[in-house]
Amino acid sequence: MKKSCLEIVRQKCESCMGCALAKSRNNVVFADGNPSTARIVLIGEAPGEMEDECGRPFVGRAGQLLDEFLAEAGISRENDVYMINTVKCRPPENRVPTDEEKSACHKFLVAQIDIIKPDAIVLCGATALKSFVELDKKQTISKVRGKWMTVTVDGVEYPAMTIFHPSYLLRNHSMEEGSPRRLMQQDLAEIKNRFLSDKIFVTAQKELALV
Ligand code: URA
Repeated sequence: MKKSCLEIVRQKCESCMGCALAKSRNNVVFADGNPSTARIVLIGEAPGEMEDECGRPFVGRAGQLLDEFLAEAGISRENDVYMINTVKCRPPENRVPTDEEKSACHKFLVAQIDIIKPDAIVLCGATALKSFVELDKKQTISKVRGKWMTVTVDGVEYPAMTIFHPSYLLRNHSMEEGSPRRLMQQDLAEIKNRFLSDKIFVTAQKELALV
């Protein structure tokens, strides 16, 4: 059911000409993950070069780093997370998407969340966060990350956490206590602990010899 609904949205998204990015894209980058098992929707910014080439989100350097952090936290990219972007087509030179581009794409983002109905939403970086929450000037990513908040999408409330974008971690290598990478580890551990560690799920995984 989820798959067929998502397929309809994907087709509409793939033929979308709603903003100027449609003209320069090679591929619409719709989503990655298993909609039947994913309990978390993770929202990034926009496709980069690699994503635009192959039509899958988070496959470039930032995506590979995100994969490493997820795996280390015991979160399965394939089963636990449905990955999407705020904007589905690549902005030139990987610039931040404009308000116009974000608003042209917002209906697809909302439809994806509506169909998946995740247990929680993970907002990866400022662009994803600002699509749902108005920030005042004092609220930097460093201040809001790691805190649970409620995000309302199409009238439904979801627990949501903001995490650092992996591109930021590519520029920050320190593993010292309190460093962005250490905070990313903490945030993913909290997400795993709160939403992906319940007994029934772990038992089912064991019975299926998945762990
Ligand atoms: N790749 C994506 O798909 N999204 C991002 O936000 C960054 C890299």
